[in-house]
Parts: sequence; C-alpha cells; structure tokens
Amino acid sequence: MPQATFHFPRGFLWGTATAAHQVEGHNTNNTWYAWEQAGHTADTCDLACDWWGGRWREDLDRAAESGQNAHRFSVEWSRIQPKIDRWDEAALDHYRQMLQGMYERGLTPVVTLHHFSDPLWFAEQGGWENDKAIGQFVEFVKKVVSALKEYVPLWCTFNEPNVYATMGYIMGVFPPGRTGDMATAQRVMLNMVRAHAAAYEVIHRLHPVARVGMVLNYRGFSPARGWMPFDAGIARLQSRLYNDLIPATLRDGVFRGLPRRIRIPEARGKQDFLGINYYTRDLVAFVPWKPADLFSRRFYPPDAPLSETGFIAHQPEGMFAALKWGLQFDVPLIVTENGVEDSQDTLRPRYLVEHVHQVWRAVNFNWPVKGYFHWTLVDNFEWERGWQQRFGLWALERETQARRKRPSADLYAAICRENGISYAMVERYAPDALAALFP
Ligand code: FCB
Repeated sequence: MPQATFHFPRGFLWGTATAAHQVEGHNTNNTWYAWEQAGHTADTCDLACDWWGGRWREDLDRAAESGQNAHRFSVEWSRIQPKIDRWDEAALDHYRQMLQGMYERGLTPVVTLHHFSDPLWFAEQGGWENDKAIGQFVEFVKKVVSALKEYVPLWCTFNEPNVYATMGYIMGVFPPGRTGDMATAQRVMLNMVRAHAAAYEVIHRLHPVARVGMVLNYRGFSPARGWMPFDAGIARLQSRLYNDLIPATLRDGVFRGLPRRIRIPEARGKQDFLGINYYTRDLVAFVPWKPADLFSRRFYPPDAPLSETGFIAHQPEGMFAALKWGLQFDVPLIVTENGVEDSQDTLRPRYLVEHVHQVWRAVNFNWPVKGYFHWTLVDNFEWERGWQQRFGLWALERETQARRKRPSADLYAAICRENGISYAMVERYAPDALAALFP
C-alpha cells in the first residue's frame, strides 16, 4: 500500500477561496462596517489582509507558487457602486488588475458577486427584504460583468444565501441582527433566488460562454437517536429548509418554503453548476418546547474531534454525503469552501487530507466534481467572530502584515502539484490520517 496515490482527473481546479470584506481592508461603506462599529463583532476588520492596498499580489504569488491553479474571490458591491447613482470605475479597474494578475500566475478565477456584505445605501432601501433589491442587484451585475467578463469563466452570484438569512434574521449575529424571524429569512432567500435568476439571464446575455452558479452552505443533519422517529423527521425538515430549498428552486422553479410553496418559473433550470461549502455536520434531537429552534437541539457527535474554538467538528464523511446530496441537482459540483480554524495547525493537516480524500471518493464514482477550494489562503476577518478564528494556510500578523506559512500550506501544495494524495505526503504531514486513508 505505501506507494498508493489517490489521483484526481486532469483539469481539476485546486485553489483557495477568499471574500472581499474579509481580506480587502477599510471597506467603510457597507453593512458589515456599520455592524462592527456598532460593537456587534468580536473585533473590527480594519486593514484586514490589505488586499485593497495591493497585498493580493504577494498572496496570489503564494497561491501560485504552491501549485494552485485557481482562485475564488469576491467583488465588493459598496466599492463598485458607492451610492445608488454613482459607479466607481477605479474600483472596477482594481478588480481587472487582480484578474489579470491571476492569469499571469496561472490561476483560473472564480468570481462571487455577493458575499455577505451590502452597500449602506442598499440596506437603507430595505436590503434583501425589499423586492426592489432584485433590480438593484441586476444593475450592479450588468456593470461588473460588462467590465470584467473577458477574464471570468465562472461566476457565483451569491455566497450562502442560507447562511446570510439564518445569521441575519434568525440567529441575529449578522446584520441586520433580527432574531427568530423565519418569515423574513424566507423572503430574503426568495429575493436572492429571484435576483440569481435575473442575474443568470444577464450574465448569459453579456457573456454566453460563462458558467453561472450559486454557492450554498451544506450542513449535514442526522437524527441524534436512531430509535426516535421525531429526530429523523426534524432532521429531514432542517435539511429541507437549510440545504434543499434554494438549489431545488433553481432546479424546479418552485420555492418550497414554510408554510407555503411559491412558484418562480423564471428560476427553473438557472444553474450551470452548484458551489458547495462544506465544513461540518450536526446531530439533531427533537425538543417539543423549542419552537423558535424548529423544535430541535443541534449538537456535534460527542466523539468527533473539535476545532480550536469548537466551531467545527471533524466529520469528513459529511463531505462525501454533501456531494452525494448535490447529485440530485444534475449539474457539475464545485467544493467552493472547506477548511477549519486552527492557529496552531494541529487539526488542519488531518482535516484537509481527509476531506480531500472524500472528494476523491466522489470523483471515483464519476460524480461531476470539478474543483476544491480551501478556506482560506491567509488568516482573515471572520465576520462576527472577528480575528478569533484563524482559517489561513498562512498565518497573518495583523500589526506588521507579516505572513507565516503553516505546515498545511506545504501539504496542500503537495496535493495540488501531485493532483492527488500520496501515501508519502500523508505520512509526512498528517500521520494521524494514515489509518483513515490507508487502512
Ligand atoms: C463560510 C463563509 C466564509 C467564511 C467561512 C469560515 O460560511 O462563506 O466567508 O467565513 O464560513
């Protein structure tokens, strides 16, 4: 067995994923800035990784030198359209330079148009709760796609509308900080689906060869007690609302919300691929007195290793389950995010290699998985959790902007260069994964 290698198909995309607000720094015209200033986050984003100041160059050098062939990033709407009636051509030019920089480095760009942050002017008009949002987003998309299309083969319209709606309207930890408002959370997702469908049309009209998809956060929900039918029922309901709702609407043109279904025929068939962000999975137990939590309690399997801040349980088989789930939508799949917060890099090597191995299993069934993007390249600003969580292959010292490579960066480089996982790399970088990969 020692010589075995798990090979991936030629042309498989290997990259890291980033998002504008988390890396650029000094984005002072969006909802997240206001949210941070109002004291709702562990700390503030500030200079972030200084990508707006130009440090994307050195970081993309790191990505390219370590064998990656793709990069997923997002453009910041509040920079490109700082006011409802103002466009900033210099901002578009900044992104054009980044895209050129990716080509010079051999990195295929995957561009996300909306990754959690909204311009302040847009939020003041009611944000995604308001039906006007669709037209406003489409104007933005037209502008961006017209300016950047020649560089972008793959567009992601929205990053994780299910997280945006859950955190912003049910948990209250993302702006606008509403809690338990299931009805508005669904309206927000519905408007994002409509905006996606309209943006899909626009992008295809402006650039017919481009592929357009949505990125979803997939979370596994398994019944906590096998003998308890209510656990299974509630786990299924959560999975339906959290995981299935949006991609199923793009497949069928029917939004199966609670309590009613809504037909959106214009959304039908509007996905060329599905981006899956997979991090972890939950056990779900039925709790009759918790209606606000959909009659349930969610928790991690007690025997699963936990990440540094307890945010993620190491559940690599959940990656395989996520991809299997994705098959029902009948489009190519891309793992658009996967990673773990780990400043000391103790769990990450094992997490990385065991998750990539599950992607390999899926690929070996000939499932149409086209790429893997690790979250993330360099430590960044993690939303309400601020700088407490360190997801980078490279560590960032915020004050000096110095980067320090973590061992996982070398492991990931070996995987990307080999286009596979070899026994030797697991033995060298993640010996605690040997038993799982080479039993
Ligand atoms: C995902 C987000 C991404 C990052 C990771 C850890 O939900 O898309 O921006 O914060 O979680």
